[in-house]
Amino acid sequence: MKDKKTPVIVITSNKGGVGKTILTLNIAGIYEKLNKKVLILDFDFSGGGIALNLNLNPKKNIYNIYEDLITNKFTDYRNYVTKYSDNIEIVASLKDIRQIHKIEEFSKVVESIINIFKQNYDVVLIDTQHGLNKTNIVSLDSATVILYVITNCLMDLKNTKSFMQVLDDVSYLSKTKIVLNNSVLPELDYFSNYDIKNLIKRNIDYTISSNLHIKNINKYITEGKIFTLNKNLVFKDKKDLTKLTKLAEDLIK
Ligand SMILES: Nc1ncnc2c1ncn2[C@@H]1O[C@H](COP(=O)(O)OP(=O)(O)OP(=O)(O)O)[C@@H](O)[C@H]1O
Ligand SMILES: [Mg+2]
Repeated sequence: MKDKKTPVIVITSNKGGVGKTILTLNIAGIYEKLNKKVLILDFDFSGGGIALNLNLNPKKNIYNIYEDLITNKFTDYRNYVTKYSDNIEIVASLKDIRQIHKIEEFSKVVESIINIFKQNYDVVLIDTQHGLNKTNIVSLDSATVILYVITNCLMDLKNTKSFMQVLDDVSYLSKTKIVLNNSVLPELDYFSNYDIKNLIKRNIDYTISSNLHIKNINKYITEGKIFTLNKNLVFKDKKDLTKLTKLAEDLIK
């Protein structure tokens, strides 16, 4: 049995499409290389992004866990995970998005799910749907680190201020790390980090370089590959990938 202090990293944002899912997978890839056993919980019920990005076809998903937990039929956690690589396993989101209506009480089992899985892994990563839904709120409670992802987009930055206020109200700012992701839309560079800090009234903890923008990202998604696990991918500046590795390492310290 693993140490109960397993890091639980919740990757979240107030805006969609900021790169949460790709970042979650890349961080998992880094842990894989560090020989850490990683579980990714896909708590984004809008589309099953993790399994789709990894080209997996899970037999069971988060719906089965919910159903079995509330009917006392849950037994072995291994029945619900899908293996991706030596060290990466996932719990997939809903296969059929209509099931969302059947898991309206999901937030009530979030803490139990996290507690069950964290016993058995070195790191738990939770990918979320953007915004503050009930599931996200209880996931944030259980997080050891909240990774809040932003882009260099004015609406996103304006939203961030109010999200930070919420985190401050519940005293979660100290476990929040802000990641400015410049790899999604590298052309969005009209605000400097200084301007952004002034807009959101918070420091940026990590910046993902626009050099980590992968032009043929769709090829990776089609083939179910994680780019931090690809030895052949060469970036302009090695430092940018080193910084991402440092980010991942910091989160589990
Ligand atoms: N490093 C990258 N290089 C190139 N494109 C990227 C990169 N990261 C993300 N993208 C692009 O941004 C899109 C959105 O990324 P992703 O799905 O990770 O965001 P998200 O925040 O999880 O979105 P959602 O809120 O819809 O779940 C990807 O489909 C991809 O096209
Ligand atoms: Mg996503």
